[in-house]
Amino acid sequence: MPRKVNYGPDYDDNYDEYDYGYEVDENAETPPQKETIKHSVWRCSICTYDNDETMSSCDICGVLHGPLLNNSIYDKKRTANIFDLKSSRVSSTVVGRDEAVKVSSMRSDSSNQSTEKGKHNRLDEINILKNIEVGPPAGSRTSDNCSASVQEGWLGHVDESSVAVNLRSSGKSSLSLMPKERNVMVDDSSSSRNGGEANSLTSNLENISFAAKSRHSNDAKPGRAISRAQYKPEKWMLPEKAEHSLTQLNLAIVGHVDSGKSTLSGRLLHLLGRISQKEMHKYEKEAKLQGKGSFAYAWALDESAEERERGITMTVAVAYFDSKRYHVVVLDSPGHKDFVPNMITGATQADASILVIDASIGSFEAGMDGTKGQTREHAQLIRSFGVDQLIVAVNKMDAVDYSKERFDLIISQLGAFLRSCGFKDSSVSWIPLSAVENQNLVSAPSDFRLSWYLGPNLLDAIDSFQPPTREFSKPLIMPICDVIKSPSQGQVSACGKLEAGAVRSGSKVLVMPSATIATVRSLERDSQACPIGRAGDNIAVSLNGIDGNHVMAGGVLCHPDFPIAFAKHLELKVLVLDGATPILIGSQLEFHIHHAKEAARVARISFLLDSKTGKVVKKAPRCILAKQSAVVEVILQEAVCVEEFSKCKVLGRVFLRTLGRTVAVGIVTRIVEEQQ
Ligand code: GTP
Ligand code: MG
Repeated sequence: MPRKVNYGPDYDDNYDEYDYGYEVDENAETPPQKETIKHSVWRCSICTYDNDETMSSCDICGVLHGPLLNNSIYDKKRTANIFDLKSSRVSSTVVGRDEAVKVSSMRSDSSNQSTEKGKHNRLDEINILKNIEVGPPAGSRTSDNCSASVQEGWLGHVDESSVAVNLRSSGKSSLSLMPKERNVMVDDSSSSRNGGEANSLTSNLENISFAAKSRHSNDAKPGRAISRAQYKPEKWMLPEKAEHSLTQLNLAIVGHVDSGKSTLSGRLLHLLGRISQKEMHKYEKEAKLQGKGSFAYAWALDESAEERERGITMTVAVAYFDSKRYHVVVLDSPGHKDFVPNMITGATQADASILVIDASIGSFEAGMDGTKGQTREHAQLIRSFGVDQLIVAVNKMDAVDYSKERFDLIISQLGAFLRSCGFKDSSVSWIPLSAVENQNLVSAPSDFRLSWYLGPNLLDAIDSFQPPTREFSKPLIMPICDVIKSPSQGQVSACGKLEAGAVRSGSKVLVMPSATIATVRSLERDSQACPIGRAGDNIAVSLNGIDGNHVMAGGVLCHPDFPIAFAKHLELKVLVLDGATPILIGSQLEFHIHHAKEAARVARISFLLDSKTGKVVKKAPRCILAKQSAVVEVILQEAVCVEEFSKCKVLGRVFLRTLGRTVAVGIVTRIVEEQQ
């Protein structure tokens, strides 16, 4: 079993000396957006770009400059998401592009429209400060994804949306999930995951801010006269203070296969009363009957016969519980490598994450294995999605006699790796626990062997997360993860998470990519009719006045005055993951963006960038090796709904996969050509 004892440190500490295997091209030009001012600069802690001191946030990735970060707003600035669902399930299946699915999207900022760099930066700063000082109403912080946001990963975070997502009901303790109930009234076969061809769209988005440097080609297009900065939400779009007593927190449970994610989730739900004693008895009995007694708690989340038989989670289970501060939506992800796209589906929705580690001898090491382990891939992915708050749940401590030495060793090895991924030490909590023996989950450990641990229990650590932010005052954006059609009644509903803005019955929405205006007939949340859907809600929007074939998973519902782009030729900034196969010109890859997946060809590798400084080190290289970053152009087989990352993070994060592995994460830096 290859131990990765020195892996983390190597990656981190020796990065400067990394041998790129090529000569630095002295004559290489720095791309326009990378102009660097040597004097009075501050270096972005994430992408390492040297920003002018007047910049309040990184010009490249949007990360706030130090002083503001300390303000803890940075955490509050991140757009939250997610499911307002009760226990349910997000399942994903890798399917063809037509079945694209998934959720995610955050309206990027809006704030600025100046095309002049300095100017928009100042505007950003003003917006940031406004958000910081004034703050939105309780439970409704408005975030400005573009400018203010967050500490994203090097590329911002990558919305590794994957593939198809279905919400499935967990049947358990409660909850419903869109899917199950829906199936009742829905003709599954017609449930359109068929992404038909989309018409073109005049793109638009006026959000200029950071975009000034990238999307030159779109600025003058018709139909984009209104800038997002001019958008004024109506009163009903903003939540009343009293409406949200508990803030919703979407918590992705990730980690290597068999580390105990489902067992931990099930145990937590049981301890918090979300799974009744009776239900638990039933799971125990059934699990024993099948010779899988140790999986009783996991069965609460692993509902399908195949999952139970194989003893692995295959799709993301969604459940919820309330802590003191949060309405926590648990997204229990699969750890098996074959289901990474499904894990991504849930993780893209996450406000925070629990990385579960199996402390057993050999198991931790297996998870850290660069090629076979998922610990590192999951950590890298969630960081790429913008998750910066992490609990490392060191599980199965009972299997190592609650050894402090083992715990410390895991911290030292994994900690170095997490730092290299961009997690700040101060945003990572390490909790030793045992899900099976119920140690340190919701109360202090009772086993004396854990008496050396004096920190918070898991539930307290969850309550220590910074609250997520939501984009209530931005124009509507709802990436469509699923479509439900009821041909008999001539109805079509788009399902997904509202990333920005709000809708209610009678609202006009622009359905992309068909560029068709539809009217909202009714809304459903948690399988209940609801009058208004706001950012953060996972809803089904029943539409009037549109042909069902014009609504497709992978599409986006947006505000009619703020259509999003539709394109197949994109410029990306990518980071090839450690251990991944090189990307060559002509490489055929799977391109993932929010709920869409598309075949893509690497048409050009424009620049190789220094991973530390972001500066161009070589023009037109032939390939990008592991751990290298580069600016590339990709041409997709079919166009997707997309935005430049600088304008809309959720619609501008991508990841590239091949042969069942994620090879690169990235952001859209430019839409080279939009579909008309
Ligand atoms: P995937 O979803 O397939 O990646 O697995 P998982 O991470 O959800 O693991 P799961 O909860 O299915 O548990 C895998 C095995 O680990 C089961 O046999 C559990 O009983 C066992 N397990 C989970 N937690 C603990 C623990 O705290 N201690 C011990 N000794 N075993 C545990
Ligand atoms: Mg599981």
